[in-house]
Amino acid sequence: MTPARPIYLDYHATTPVDPRVVEAMLPWFTEKFGNPGSVNHPYGYEAAEAVARARRQIAEILGATPREIIFTSGATEANNLAILGLARRTPPPRRHVVLPRTEHPSVLDPVRSLQRQGWQVSWVEVRRHGHPQAGQVDLDHLEQCLRRKSTALVCLMLANNEIGTIQPVAQAAQLAHRHGAVLHCDATQALGRIPVRVDQLQVDLLSFSAHKFYGPKGTGGLYLRRRQPPLRLEPLLYGGGHENRLRSGTLNVPGIVGMARALQLAAEELPREANRLAGLRNRLWELLQQELGEGVVLHGPELSRPELRLPGNLNCGFPGVDGDALLAALAPQLAVSSGSACSTAEPEPSHVLRALRLPEEQVRASLRFGLGRFTTQEHIPAAAQAVARTVKQLAPGR
Ligand SMILES: Cc1ncc(COP(=O)(O)O)c(C=O)c1O
Repeated sequence: MTPARPIYLDYHATTPVDPRVVEAMLPWFTEKFGNPGSVNHPYGYEAAEAVARARRQIAEILGATPREIIFTSGATEANNLAILGLARRTPPPRRHVVLPRTEHPSVLDPVRSLQRQGWQVSWVEVRRHGHPQAGQVDLDHLEQCLRRKSTALVCLMLANNEIGTIQPVAQAAQLAHRHGAVLHCDATQALGRIPVRVDQLQVDLLSFSAHKFYGPKGTGGLYLRRRQPPLRLEPLLYGGGHENRLRSGTLNVPGIVGMARALQLAAEELPREANRLAGLRNRLWELLQQELGEGVVLHGPELSRPELRLPGNLNCGFPGVDGDALLAALAPQLAVSSGSACSTAEPEPSHVLRALRLPEEQVRASLRFGLGRFTTQEHIPAAAQAVARTVKQLAPGR
């Protein structure tokens, strides 16, 4: 008999591919395997048509035009293309970037590489731990950071991957534009979970990744504004001139078809699913509080206001508990992560929780729960009991 698998509550790390998405993808691996760049035969035409259809579907859901969608290998590449591609096209004296410390490493690291090349960086303050809007940028401080002559770029993610904070991106975009800067939004955790439309957010660049919304890994995209006036990027990859010369490389046809199908499904199911997940997440928090009382602390924004936090996100601290021991003891029962799990190379304590000025000890004793499409009502008490039992074992007296 195969042992029971742990309950999966790590939907911010990745999601399983929905069987309906697999079904849409399958023909594009085998009988319809053509290269969309092959312009002389039907194998190529049908693949090119499938990519064009997917591009139209994705653009429509995002409120963009098909020409504004660039397919990439995921959000890491899209973020790098947005930041470095824009920087390489921006003439001096614009050599200044503004962002909070709570961004994903795939945004922070390209910005740091610009800093090494002489760019200036201003770090916008975020609301601290305990504030109802914990993790949100302080828009007044953002305005103070902007420099009319030199700010080229503001980076602001739509939803945080650790604490689920939803940022006031539309207001930030207005401020950036007023100062002649461009706004790049990493919407990787938001797409499929909350409504995302570039025409409403008024962003100039927006990154996304299929594996966060029940599509395949290794497929994503970047929205690039091409209207009023068109924004220009320098490519990072040179070669066959694919994607309007912005991203050379043979297109991942099954991945792109799957991403479009996954986004359609997520958009259709979003209102109902967001309510369901928020209900399950709130129940999980209630049960943890009942079991542990003051032994559990909420990290991130209030749970009661859907405009502040992703519906399936919960992040909590367990003061006095060794976080690594907690994760290790939970692993056979529960697949969750500490705040730091999104970057695999060096499991450092969470830079997001640190930016909220949480005590270091609590940063190291935190769990991030991500609930998703295949989370059931039965999973919630089982998860709460597993966490409470383990915390009590590790910190007797709780
Ligand atoms: C907010 C955010 N941005 C970017 C990424 C990177 O996405 P990808 O895995 O597609 O490179 C992730 C995923 O971990 C993420 O959560």
